[in-house]
Amino acid sequence: MGKETESVCPWWMGYLLALPIRKYMQNPDKIVGAYLKPGMKAIDYGSAMGFFSLPMARAVGPKGKVYCFDLQEKMLGQLVNRAKKAGLGDIIKPRLVTNNDHAFDDLKQKADFALLFAVAHEVPDRQKLFVTLASMMKPKALLLFAEPKGHVSLEDFEESVSFAEKAGFVKRQPVQVLKGLSMLLEKK
Ligand SMILES: C[S@@+](CC[C@H](N)C(=O)[O-])C[C@H]1O[C@@H](n2cnc3c(N)ncnc32)[C@H](O)[C@@H]1O
Repeated sequence: MGKETESVCPWWMGYLLALPIRKYMQNPDKIVGAYLKPGMKAIDYGSAMGFFSLPMARAVGPKGKVYCFDLQEKMLGQLVNRAKKAGLGDIIKPRLVTNNDHAFDDLKQKADFALLFAVAHEVPDRQKLFVTLASMMKPKALLLFAEPKGHVSLEDFEESVSFAEKAGFVKRQPVQVLKGLSMLLEKK
């Protein structure tokens, strides 16, 4: 449901997205740090090579988990390499997204937090995306949803938020990342 997708971000862009210099514009600790605590189970949906996943893994610590979903094997392969190098290999759990609708079943109502950062505009069925995320999250768990202003209009962003609401999220508050196309949502 929703507008047809732009093409998916090419795998080699994953290297650029993971460059440390990006932290000066989008500091992952500041963006997600407040929502994470040691021992939590978190989701980084559309993780690419883990610009957010690795700081998230540090925040949830050795007793936590970060489930990193992506549909490109090359993104997840490099994510795993980076996680191992950083000593976070046991916390990061890569999950390849396929056409199998049951691939998410083992995480039903398990996650304490989810991040959906610059991903939704690449997904053809945004309604299904939010239903899938809701199915994996605990009641009251937070979802930080952000889209890049250059790629996504305010109208499309608001349409995505309405898909999220239909899937069982409520708006908590707008957040100041990605120049305003960001919303903190809570699962009912
Ligand atoms: C623009 S990148 C953003 C990556 C990351 N969230 C970040 O901010 O660094 C979008 C990522 O979403 C992934 N992606 C696109 N469609 C997806 C889908 N349906 N399911 C899972 N991942 C998807 C792409 O492969 C790509 O790695």
